Amino acid sequence: MININKQNELINAAMKVRGNAYAPYSNFQVAAALLCADGEIITGINMESSSYGLSVCAERNTIATAVAKGKKDFIALAVISRSGVTPCGACRQVIFDICGDIDIILSDGNGNIQDTTTTKALLPMAFSHKDLG
Ligand code: THU
Repeated sequence: MININKQNELINAAMKVRGNAYAPYSNFQVAAALLCADGEIITGINMESSSYGLSVCAERNTIATAVAKGKKDFIALAVISRSGVTPCGACRQVIFDICGDIDIILSDGNGNIQDTTTTKALLPMAFSHKDLG
């Protein structure tokens, strides 16, 4: 697990953008901060749609931004929400697909860490590209 200073750096980065989350339907604003292997931190927020099923979580938006910037290797992901929730099942799969087994830090809206874990702990026996042969 990355050290506490790095954890807090990620949480602070996510806290800065959480207010930009577009979540008028759930009123549940989430932000994520992804630490790339080159040291850069990429942030993102959840963005909902009036067609609810089109809403995208903060984790997947953040990962897509990082991939669009050419990032390929990742170290840790912080997720910040009102209560410090864990990534949904869809996001767990995408985190594993794109980032592999990275550190995951879960924080409440005040920046208090609620839990730390890893992709593999959240998604045991994961399906992956390797299963496609
Ligand atoms: N959401 C996230 O962005 N990340 C999570 O880890 C959990 C849920 C979003 C999806 C939706 O916009 C809102 O939070 C309520 O589910």
